[in-house]
Amino acid sequence: MRKKRGKWATLDGVLNETWKMLERGVARFNDPFHWPVLGTTAKDGASLRTVILRQFISADRVLVCHTDARAAKVNEISNSAWVSWLFYHPQKKVQLRISGSATLHADDQFADRQWVAAKMTSRLNYCAIDAPGTAIEKPSSGLPDFLINKVPTLLETERGRKNFMVIAGRIERMGWLVLSALGNRRARFDWDDNGLSAKWLIP
Ligand SMILES: Cc1cc2nc3c(=O)[nH]c(=O)nc-3n(C[C@H](O)[C@H](O)[C@H](O)COP(=O)(O)O)c2cc1C
Repeated sequence: MRKKRGKWATLDGVLNETWKMLERGVARFNDPFHWPVLGTTAKDGASLRTVILRQFISADRVLVCHTDARAAKVNEISNSAWVSWLFYHPQKKVQLRISGSATLHADDQFADRQWVAAKMTSRLNYCAIDAPGTAIEKPSSGLPDFLINKVPTLLETERGRKNFMVIAGRIERMGWLVLSALGNRRARFDWDDNGLSAKWLIP
C-alpha cells in the first residue's frame, strides 16, 4: 500500500501512472482498461457504450477506438464532437473520467494504418450487409452467408473497409479517483493552449 501511495503521492506521479495504465489497456486484451465506456451526446441525452481501446497516443493525448461508419455514435459525434470516456480498474480501484473533442477518420492514412493492423476477427465486425442497429426478423450477425461459419480470407474481409471508421478522442479533461482504505484520493487535470493545470480535489 505504501508503494502505491508512493507513485500516487504527486500529481506528476498520478499522470505517469495513468499513462502507463492506458498503455497497458491497449496492449492487454484482458486488462480492465481495454474496455472503456465511450459517451456521446444523442438527441435524448447521453449515449454510452463499451468499446475497445485500440491505441493511446500519449504525445498527443489521444485515445483511439474503431467503429462501423454506419453506427449511431458516428452521427452523434458528427453533431457534437465532445465525447467522454470512462475507465475503471477494479484491482487498482482507479476510475478515470476523460473528455475532449473527437475526430472521425474514414479515408485517411490514419484509418488505413489501423485497418491494415486490424485482426481478421475485428475486420468481420465491419462486414455486415445492413447498418448496425437495423431491425431484423430473427437474430443474426448480419454477415453475408459466405463469411459465416468459416475463417475468412484477408481478401474477403476487405469488403469491411468501406464501413470501417476510427474515432480519435483528445484528452482535454481528466478526473482521476482512487479508492483506498487509507483515504480516497481525487485529482483533476485540464489541458488548454497554456498547457496543463492539475489539482487535488476532495474525493
Ligand atoms: C466488450 C465490448 C466491446 C465492444 N467494442 C466495440 C468497439 O470497439 N467499437 C464499437 O463500435 N462497438 C463496440 N462494441 C459494441 C458497442 O458497445 C455498441 O453496442 C455498438 O458500437 C453500437 O453502438 P452505437 O449504436 O451507439 O454506435 C463493444 C461491445 C462490447 C460488449
